[in-house]
Amino acid sequence: MTLLHDAELAAAFDHAALSYDRLVAANPGYHAHLRRSARRLRLPRGGAGLRLLDLGCGTGASTAALLAAAPHAEIVAVDASAGMLARAATKRWPAGVSFVHAPVERLADAGVTGPFDGVFAAYLFRNVTDPDGTLAVVRSLLKPGGRLGVHEYALGGRAVDRAVWTAVCRGIVLPAGRLAGDADLYRHLWRSVVEFDTASGFADRLRRAGFAEVRVLPMPGWQTGIVHTFVGRSR
Ligand SMILES: C[S@@+](CC[C@H](N)C(=O)[O-])C[C@H]1O[C@@H](n2cnc3c(N)ncnc32)[C@H](O)[C@@H]1O
Repeated sequence: MTLLHDAELAAAFDHAALSYDRLVAANPGYHAHLRRSARRLRLPRGGAGLRLLDLGCGTGASTAALLAAAPHAEIVAVDASAGMLARAATKRWPAGVSFVHAPVERLADAGVTGPFDGVFAAYLFRNVTDPDGTLAVVRSLLKPGGRLGVHEYALGGRAVDRAVWTAVCRGIVLPAGRLAGDADLYRHLWRSVVEFDTASGFADRLRRAGFAEVRVLPMPGWQTGIVHTFVGRSR
């Protein structure tokens, strides 16, 4: 299958938004793993005085994780899907959290400008048409020394990682997606992970994009070898 991109992908997320929170709640560790990745940013002082960006915030699951790690920060949360943002808007957020409807490719047009002390992107990079261009945008928005945290399905590179991912998709993700009426989006999820960088490949991509102190950290549970946190700093 061809992967979904840009407006087509945003429309698929608009349609999936109503069932998204229910489906991810059925995924063991989904929220705990997001919180773990956000903590791995090691933001000081509970985020006091910091300005953070949550890129591809969806229904706000990653925003909530960032908020748990940095309850005193100002957080700008951005997404290309109006439907996902509408779900985020039904939740309670402190005054320091704001949501913006924009694709990462057009942040400036939507008034999202730097500098930021940290950027968090959960399950975004696999979905963008130009990951290197997006990393360049992220670097331009970060202060020197600013932190990047990426939480992503990026396979570990062993045959077993790919086999487990495909088994989970065939057995659970694809049937659940079909039942929810979002078969194309969940097929995109499966294939986009298979076709995306391995974890070490994405770490190399971050280094090539100019990030320093890049580290790849694993997740517990069935996601071991499948979901990773990537952290790095802008130079
Ligand atoms: C799998 S969801 C993850 C949402 C959230 N970060 C979470 O952890 O639950 C991916 C999100 O990225 C958004 N997205 C995909 N491509 C995007 C782009 N080019 N610009 C902004 N958001 C994008 C989608 O609309 C979707 O809400």
